Amino acid sequence: MSISIPRGTQDILPGDVELWQQIEQKARELCEKYQYQEIRTPIFEHTELFSRGVGDTTDIVQKEMYTFEDRGGRSMTLRPEGTASVVRAFVEKKMFGLAKQPVKLYYMGPMFRYERPQSGRFRQFVQFGVEALGSNDPAIDAEVISLAMNLYKEMGLKKLKLIINSLGDKESRLAHREALIQHFQPRIGEFCSDCQNRLKRNPLRILDCKQDRDHELMKTAPSIIDYLNEESKAYFEKVQKYLGLLHISFEVDPNLVRGLDYYNHTAFEIMSDAEGFGAITTLCGGGRYNGLAEEIGGPETPGIGFALSIERFIAALKAEGIETAVNEGIDCYLAVLGEEAKDYSVGLLQQLRLAGFSAERDYLNRKIKAQFKAADRLHARYVAILGDDELKNNVIHVKNMATGEQVEVALDSFVAYFQKLQ
Ligand code: HAM
Repeated sequence: MSISIPRGTQDILPGDVELWQQIEQKARELCEKYQYQEIRTPIFEHTELFSRGVGDTTDIVQKEMYTFEDRGGRSMTLRPEGTASVVRAFVEKKMFGLAKQPVKLYYMGPMFRYERPQSGRFRQFVQFGVEALGSNDPAIDAEVISLAMNLYKEMGLKKLKLIINSLGDKESRLAHREALIQHFQPRIGEFCSDCQNRLKRNPLRILDCKQDRDHELMKTAPSIIDYLNEESKAYFEKVQKYLGLLHISFEVDPNLVRGLDYYNHTAFEIMSDAEGFGAITTLCGGGRYNGLAEEIGGPETPGIGFALSIERFIAALKAEGIETAVNEGIDCYLAVLGEEAKDYSVGLLQQLRLAGFSAERDYLNRKIKAQFKAADRLHARYVAILGDDELKNNVIHVKNMATGEQVEVALDSFVAYFQKLQ
C-alpha cells in the first residue's frame, strides 16, 4: 500500500527548511525590536470561536473550515486563522488587565482551510502574524504595516505593493451597507445564490464574490470611502500620514475587501508584483478589528494585526530570484578508522558538541577517502583523523580543510586545542 501526502499540504525537506528557518528567525528578531511577544494557542478551537453564531459570513468560515465532532460530541475546528484565537486568549486570560499595554503579540504556526489547492494556495499553510490589542492610535496601524514591510525588505524583496483602505467605524459601515442594499436589490436576481443570501446578511461580501465579479453593478457599487464619517476619515488620514513619515509608499484601493468579517477602519494587503509570481499575488493581509474582543465576551478593546504565510513569502523570494540560505558548514568532522578509535570517537564527538562545536562522524564504516568526501559534503572546516595508531600514541591529526595544513595534537588536549582555533 502506498500512502501519499494529503492534497494541499507540503513536506518541507532539509535543503528547503533552512529558508523557512531563516524567515522565522528574522520574524522573531523583528518582533523583539518592535516589542511583540510570542503567544502560542491551540491548533483546534471550539467552532463557535470562528463562526460566532454565524456572525461571520465569509467563505473562509462558511465553506472552508475543517470542522469535526470530537469524541465528546463537541464541534471543533482546525484554526483557519490566528486572530480569533489570540483575541480569545486575550479575553480569557484577562490580558487587558496586564500592566504592559497595549498588548503586542505574535504567532507562527499552521492554519487550515479547505480551499482548492493551486500555486500559492494550500490547505495547510504556516502563518506568521502579529496582533496589537488595546490601542486606538493610528500610529500603531502604521507600526503593524511597517513591521510586515520591513520583514519582507530585510529578506531582500523589492517588488512589493501596499494597498490600504478604510472600512470605517460602525456608523460609516451601516450607511455604506444601506447604500449597497439599495444598489444591488433591484437586480439581485441576476446574482448567484450566495450573493442573494449576502444581500441582507452582509452585502459588502458581494463585492468579494468570485462568480459575479464581472457583473456591471460591481463597477458602479457605492464605495465605502464616500460613506466614511468625519471621525473615520480623520483616522484614515492619520494612518496615511504616519505611513508617509515612515517612507512607506501605498495605494488607496476603495475596493479592498478582506476575506474575514471582523474588520473596521484600516484594512491592508501587501502584494508582490514580481514577474512570474503567479495568479495569487497577496502576500500579507491585515487590518483593524475593534469589535472582536467584545464579540468574544471581553471588554471593548481596539485591535489591529496582520498575517502572512511563509509559503507565499518563499514563492515571492523565488520569483525575485533571491537565493536560499547558505550552507554554513560544520566545525569538525571526525574521520575514524579501526574499532578502538571508533569506540573512542563516541565520547570525543560528545565533548566537541558540548563545547559548542557542530561535529559529525562516520556511521557507515566508510574508507578514509569516502569519509573525507562526506566531510566535504558537510563543508567541514576541520577534519580530525583518529585511527587505532593515533589512539595508541595518544594523538589525533587535525586537518584545516581551507589551507590543507595538518597538525598532530595530543588527544587529551584536542578539545582545548580546537577551542583556541576559533
Ligand atoms: P487572511 O487574508 O485570510 O487574513 O490571510 C493572511 C495571509 O495568509 C494571506 O495574505 C496569505 O499570505 C496567507 N494565506 C491565506 N490563505 C492561504 C492559503 N490557502 N495558502 C497559503 N497562504 C494563505 C487572516 O488570516 C487574518 N487573521 C489576518 C489578520 C491578523 N487580520 C488582523 N490580524
